[in-house]
Order: sequence, then structure tokens, then C-alpha cells
Amino acid sequence: MKLRVSEAAKLLQAGGVVAFPTETVYGLGAVLRSPRAVRRIFAVKGRPSDNPLIVHVSSLSQFRLLTRNAPASAFRLARKFWPGPLTLVCRKSRKVPGTVTAGLNTVAVRMPNHPVALALIRKLKEPLAAPSANRSGRPSPTRYGHVVRELGGRVDGILDGGASKVGLESTVVDLSSRPPRLLRPGSVSAETLRGYLPDLEVAGRLKKSGAAPSPGMKHRHYRPDCRVLEAAPENWEALCARWGKKAVKLGAIACRRRLVRTPNLVFAKISHKNGADYARKLYHHFYEAEKKGVQVLIVETLPARGIGHAFRDRLRRASGSRG
Ligand code: TXA
Ligand code: MG
Repeated sequence: MKLRVSEAAKLLQAGGVVAFPTETVYGLGAVLRSPRAVRRIFAVKGRPSDNPLIVHVSSLSQFRLLTRNAPASAFRLARKFWPGPLTLVCRKSRKVPGTVTAGLNTVAVRMPNHPVALALIRKLKEPLAAPSANRSGRPSPTRYGHVVRELGGRVDGILDGGASKVGLESTVVDLSSRPPRLLRPGSVSAETLRGYLPDLEVAGRLKKSGAAPSPGMKHRHYRPDCRVLEAAPENWEALCARWGKKAVKLGAIACRRRLVRTPNLVFAKISHKNGADYARKLYHHFYEAEKKGVQVLIVETLPARGIGHAFRDRLRRASGSRG
């Protein structure tokens, strides 16, 4: 039988770790006041200890308690986009333990737009620290079944909230120093944010010096258990034809492409309603391709506009290229 919100809240209050749905991806939650539970999140995921967690809130007053000297722009953005897929990084208050922020003096906060997540945090009456509910380096789960596959048996419970509507992780913007910086693209785009933050900078990728603007940027991410190849639309047919001749189990996913059928093609999803629908299902297709034993997965990329920025970022990392 599936877990109820009230049962999940009890497990969390007792210092447990419970996975829950959000509109972006599923998260693995623990209450901030239990250092043991927060440490368990890192252990269960195999997450590097220098990669901080996002704190999930259900009210602006919780945001106020967690942060110190948050700029006016933070409240403007929160009022406009919360609940929603936007994470704000601000200086942290003493209420936030260093275990959650990996020792940083800033904290990342967001209010998820999912009825189950909001009901859970309201029931708890306290915020929930949660990274995505996958093993470190792997694609983020966007359905209950994905979490079972990733973490089943290693967590105290999993709440089912159906398929995540966005399907890619939240936009992360750092407001703790000037100018504000976009650390991770998501469905709230840089263009939209510039309406509120005219001097927004897009953080460069990892520099050779090794100093990453956000701890998460230096770790490997989003990779399924197969080789992922990015295909620009104009390369799609040639790439499918070339890999179609090789002795590998091939998979292909695209927004809208003609299928090049070859004997080794074991998995194909090539028609989606639009870019947002395609982005929503990207990680689901990763998990499905794995189940089919795909060894090489060709993935059509999206144009660099709207959700396309986030999609391209995740695809680039899933394919292993850092450039
Ligand atoms: O959509 C999401 O954001 C999902 C759902 C569950 O809310 N969560 C998520 O968490 O994607 P996670 O841990 O997989 O990614 C959090 C990102 C990491 O790249 C981390 O480095 C960054 O946020 N981050 C967290 N705290 C930070 C801080 N204080 N300063 C800079 N980056 C931070
Ligand atoms: Mg993650």
C-alpha cells in the first residue's frame, strides 16, 4: 500500500528520509533539525558531501526565517514565481545547519508547485531539505516508479504524486552577491528573469581553475546507464544510419523526427507534442531505455530558446561533454 502524507510526515518528524513528488522532479527529503537524517540523504544518494541541498518551504515566512538580508528582488521573485520551479540562493540564517549547505554561508530555497509536496511541508510545519531522489550522477526521477528503481529499500518511504509536470530540475539563481547569477537553467528562463533582474549574469561553466560557481556544477550529472549521443536535427538521420550498422543495442529519442529503422533499434520515442512535452519526458525515456538494455542512445537536441536551454544543459551533461 502506498504511503499517505500524514504517514510520511510522521516518518520525517522521527528523523527519517522520505521521497516526495514535486512539479520538477522527485526529491528525497529530511527535516533540517536532524543532522543524522540530513547525513543519511548524502549516504543514500552517494552524494559528494560538498554539494549542498535545496530547502523546500510552503510559505514566505519560512523563507524569511531561513535567510539573512535577502534582497528585495528575492521577495519580488518569490511572490511572482512561487510556488514554482525557481530556486533562490541567499545568505543563510543561523536556523540552517551547515550539513544542509555543505558548509556554505548561503542557502538555496524554493516553494514547490505540487499539492502533495505542499501538503507535506504544511503538515510538518517546517521546511524540508531535499535533493533530487536519484543516486548521485544519475537522471532525476520524474515518476514514482523511477524512485523505486533508484532508491527503493534504502529510504523510509516514497510518496506517489504521478508524473512531474515540468520534468527538469528548477532554475537556480544566486542572489547572495552582485550581480545576480543564473547557476542552473530551468523552465523559468533567463529572459524571463531579466524582467526582474536586469543585470543577471549566466554563470560560466566549470573553469579550468576548478572553481565552480555552484558546487553542483563540477559533479557528473543526469547520466543513464548507456552512452548518450546528442543529435542536432540536421545530423539525426546520418547518426541513426551510422549507429544502425553497429553491433550495439540502439535507442533513439526525438521531439519530431522520421524514424530510421535498423535491426539493432530496440527503443524509439520520436514524436512529442512540443518541446515542453519532450523535455518533460527526457528522464522517463532515459529510464525506459535502460530497462530495454539500450547501449547507445541518440537524443535529438532542442533549439536554444525557452525550455531548450535547460534541455540542452542536461543533455550535454548526460552525454558526458563538459564543454
Ligand atoms: O527542481 C529541483 O530543484 C529539485 C526538486 C526536488 O526541488 N531539486 C534538485 O536538487 O534538483 P539537487 O540537489 O539535485 O540540485 C540542487 C542544485 C545543485 O546543483 C546544488 O549545487 C545547488 O542546487 N545548490 C544548492 N545550494 C546551493 C548554494 N547554497 N549555493 C549554490 N548552489 C547551491
Ligand atoms: Mg540532482
